[in-house]
Amino acid sequence: MKKLLFSFCLLGASLGLRAEDGHQLWLRPHPAAPVKVVATAKNSALLATARQELARGWQGPAGATVTLTLRPDKALKPDGFRLGPTSVQAATAAGLLYGAFELLRRQQTGQPVTTEVVNPSYERRLLNHWDNPDGSVERGYAGHSIFWRKDSSFVVTPRDKALWQAYARANASVGLNGSVLNNVNASPLILSAEYLGRARAIADVLRPYGVRVYLAVKFSSPVLLGGLKTADPLDPAVIKWWRGKVQEVYRQIPDFGGLLVKASSEGQPGPQDYGRTHADGANMLADALRPYGGLVMWRAFVYSPSDKDRAKQAYNEFKPLDGKFRDNVIVQVKNGPIDFQPREPFSPLFGALKKTSVMPEFQITQEYLGQAIDLVFLSTMWEECLRSDTYQAGPGSTVARCTDGSVYPQKHTAMAGVSNVGLDPNWTGQDFAQANWYAFGRLAWNNQLPSAQIADEWLKQTFANSAAGPRPATAADWNTNFLAPVTQLLLTSREAAVNYSMPLGLHHIMSATHAHYGPGPWWAPPGMRPDWTPPYYHQADASGVGFDRTTTGSNAVSQYHEPLAAQFNNPATCPDEYLLWFHHLPWDFKMKSGRSLWDELCAHYDLGVHQVRQFQQVWDQAQPYVDAERFAAVQDKLRTQSGNAVVWKDACLLYFQQFSHRPIPATVEPPM
Ligand code: GCU
Repeated sequence: MKKLLFSFCLLGASLGLRAEDGHQLWLRPHPAAPVKVVATAKNSALLATARQELARGWQGPAGATVTLTLRPDKALKPDGFRLGPTSVQAATAAGLLYGAFELLRRQQTGQPVTTEVVNPSYERRLLNHWDNPDGSVERGYAGHSIFWRKDSSFVVTPRDKALWQAYARANASVGLNGSVLNNVNASPLILSAEYLGRARAIADVLRPYGVRVYLAVKFSSPVLLGGLKTADPLDPAVIKWWRGKVQEVYRQIPDFGGLLVKASSEGQPGPQDYGRTHADGANMLADALRPYGGLVMWRAFVYSPSDKDRAKQAYNEFKPLDGKFRDNVIVQVKNGPIDFQPREPFSPLFGALKKTSVMPEFQITQEYLGQAIDLVFLSTMWEECLRSDTYQAGPGSTVARCTDGSVYPQKHTAMAGVSNVGLDPNWTGQDFAQANWYAFGRLAWNNQLPSAQIADEWLKQTFANSAAGPRPATAADWNTNFLAPVTQLLLTSREAAVNYSMPLGLHHIMSATHAHYGPGPWWAPPGMRPDWTPPYYHQADASGVGFDRTTTGSNAVSQYHEPLAAQFNNPATCPDEYLLWFHHLPWDFKMKSGRSLWDELCAHYDLGVHQVRQFQQVWDQAQPYVDAERFAAVQDKLRTQSGNAVVWKDACLLYFQQFSHRPIPATVEPPM
C-alpha cells in the first residue's frame, strides 16, 4: 500500500513537472549564487527587470558585485551594450537588460565573458502572431492564442498576466523587442475599443521586458469599422479616419510600435482595389503614424491566379516602387519567393531594392515543415537564407547585409518571425519547436550567428539543468552522450525534412486536405485555382519534372543578379538543392553524382526516411539525460514523424513513377 501511494505521489509530481518542465523553456530555474547589483541609472521598469534576472540566475562568483552603468556611448546602438565579466554598460535601460541576459547566457552555457561591444543586427526584432480575435491561431499547432479568447469578456485574469509575463521574459532573454499581436489576415475588430483595451493591457505587461506591441490591420477597416464608403488611400475622409484611429491607439499605448499590413494579397483588400499602388497605401498609413514615431511594415507576399509563375510577382510589383515609400515604411519579404517551403532560394527582392527599407520574414510555426509533430530545427534554413549572396552590390551582399543596412543605408531595420506559440503547456506543441523560437530571436539579434552555436546554447539551457534526468551525469558524460549527438540531430533535421518531403528543389507538393501536412503532389480538385495545386509547381509528365524558370521558361532567373542568374539558368551549374525549382528536366538527366535524376530523387526520399530513423535512435540513447515526460513526448513524436516520412516517400515516388516509368531502386546508396 505504501509502495502504491509512493508511486501515485511520483506520478503526481511528474505530471506537475511535465507542465513545469516544458513551460520553463530555456529559462530553467537554477540555484543562483548571491550577487550584489549596483546600478548607476535612474530606476525604471527595465532596470528592475535586469536586477531581478541577475539575482535569479547568477552563476558567477558568489557575492560578486555587478555594475549596470547607463551612459552615452558612440559605439553602441540603442539596444547594444559593453560587456565585462561583472559589468554591463549601455546607452539605454533596454541595453542593460539585454546585457544582463547575455551575461547569464554565457555563464549558463560556459561561454567566456570577455570585454566586448555587442550590438544587435536589427533595430526591430519581432514576432508576428497569426492570432485571431476569437482565440484561434492561423497555422498554429500549439493550442489557442495566449492573447485573445473566444469568450471575449475582455477581462484580464491573473493567469493571463502571468502567461504574458513569462512570454515577454522569454522574448527579452533572446533579444526580441516587439510582438504583432494579431493575424496578418486581420479582422477589423482589432481596432475596436474593446480589443484596443486588451492590447493596452498586454502592452503594460510586456513593457518591463522591452517588448513593444504592434497590430496587423485590415486595409478596408475604414469601411468595415468606420462606416465609410471607401478605403481609397487618397480619399480625404479615409486619411482622416486613419489619423483618428492611430491617435486613439497611441492614447492607449504611448509606445505602440506600428502597423503590419497584408494588402492586395490573397484576396485581402488593398490599395489596388482603388487603382492605387502599394506605395500609396503604405505612405498614407506612414503619414498617420509619423507624429508618434510609428512604423508601417508592408508585406510583399503578393501573387495572383493569372500569374504564369507566381515566384515572380512580388519582385515585379515592388521593384518599380523602389524609392517611392516613406522612410517609416519597411517592406516585409518572406525568405523565399513562394511561401515558406522546406527549401526555396532567397527572394530576389532582397537584392532588388536600394532606396527602400526591407526586412526578412521567416516562419517559426512549421506550416510546411511538419507542424507540431516533426522535429525540424529551422535555424539552419534561416542561416542558409541570411548567408545567401544576392550580389546586389558585388560579392558579399548577403541577404543579412542587404537587410541590416550594411549594403544600402536603411532608416529602419527589422526581422519578423511568424510565431509558433500557443496555450499548450510547453508553449509550442513539440518540445523541440521551442528551439525555433529561441533560434529566431538569436538570429534577429545577431544575423551572423552559426546554427551550431544556437543549438548548443539551447540544448545546454533547456536540458543540462534538468534535475529530472534519471541519471546525474558528469559534464564530460553529458557532453559526449547527450549534447554532441543531439546537436548533430538538430543540425541535420531540416535537411532530413527536405529529403523526405521535397528534395532537389521540388516545392509546394503537400496536401491541402491535411492543411499542408503530408504529401499531395496529385492534389488538383476540379475548379481549384491552379496556383494552389501541386501540379502547377512540379509539372511532372512523361518528359520529366520541375518548373522551368530559365530564360527560355518563365525567366524568373533574370530577377537574380549575375553570376547567380547564369548559374541558376544552367542545369550543369545550378546547385542540386534548387535544380527542379529552376529546371524541368528529363527523368534520365545525368546528375552531378552520376546517377539519373529519377534514381537521385529516390535516393533522397530514402535518405530522409533513414535520417529520421537515426534520429529515433539518437533520442532513445538520450533517455538517461532527460526527464521522463519530455523524453516520452519527443520519442512519441519521432515515431509519428518516422511513419510519416515513409508516407511522404512512398506517396511521392509512386505518384512520380507513373510519369517516369522507371523502377524504384531496391537498395539505394545515400546521395552524394
Ligand atoms: C500562407 C499561409 C496562410 C497565410 C499566408 C500569409 O499562404 O498558408 O495561412 O495567411 O501564408 O503569409 O499571408
